[in-house]
Amino acid sequence: MARRRQLYEGKAKILFEGPEPGTLVQYFKDDASAANGAKKGIITGKGVLNNRISEYLMTRLSDIGIPTHFIRRLNMREQLIREVEIIPLELVVRNVAAGSLSTRLGIQEGQRLPRSIIEYYYKNDALQDPMVSEEHITCFGWASTQDLDDMVQLALRVNDFLTGLFLGIGIVLVDLKLEFGRFYENEEVRIVLADEISPDNCRLWDSKTGEKMDKDRFRRDLGKVEEGYQEVARRLGILPEAGVRDLKGPELMQ
Ligand SMILES: Nc1ncnc2c1ncn2[C@@H]1O[C@H](COP(=O)(O)OP(=O)(O)O)[C@@H](O)[C@H]1O
Ligand SMILES: [Mg+2]
Repeated sequence: MARRRQLYEGKAKILFEGPEPGTLVQYFKDDASAANGAKKGIITGKGVLNNRISEYLMTRLSDIGIPTHFIRRLNMREQLIREVEIIPLELVVRNVAAGSLSTRLGIQEGQRLPRSIIEYYYKNDALQDPMVSEEHITCFGWASTQDLDDMVQLALRVNDFLTGLFLGIGIVLVDLKLEFGRFYENEEVRIVLADEISPDNCRLWDSKTGEKMDKDRFRRDLGKVEEGYQEVARRLGILPEAGVRDLKGPELMQ
């Protein structure tokens, strides 16, 4: 079978040219990185699980009217997505203090925030994704005020919905990182949710025990990393029947 053209290889995924113009194939790797690429490793089965988890969450979000790039899952590790012009920002929505918020501001990890807050980071590996303000974003033209407004509204809706969804399966959504892109259609441009939503970019804690079920297990060498991702998938009811073994299925099912 002819190999598709690889367009980009990132830290966790590879993007291939899609079967139709305006589409891409997103391949989920088992590679994990942390501390802006300083720490690297493999989480066996992560790609298979993140592909499923992101499919599931993007589909649920789409059902409540959130525009997303997701079209359909193709196989164990690949999904078909709409190609968008990625806005070079990461929006982090926080409900509970953790990670860099706790470190920078001295707020104890686990403390519930008085309200959900959004932080912006400039997506730039060489600069280690620095935190930026609205002023920087609009001044340097990374996004317009209107784009930013749309992204914030969508991010809050995503956060509200996912908070409820996870709480229903005994998981606290502590924080999550979102990426958005511009999708051009009939001379119109729409902001859509892109990239992935998975334990790689959410903090997910068991609501009873506080146990972490996300990439912090890898970042902080807590052990049982694979088990954390599996538990999230299991509670969502989407653990692949075959387990996380990477069955070498068809490369592309359409
Ligand atoms: N729908 C999309 N269209 C174009 N690019 C996308 C889309 N969704 C995600 N991307 C980009 O694809 C890359 C995904 O691979 P990843 O391994 O996460 O990369 P990175 O190491 O840059 O974070 C990211 O740079 C992300 O911004
Ligand atoms: Mg990424």
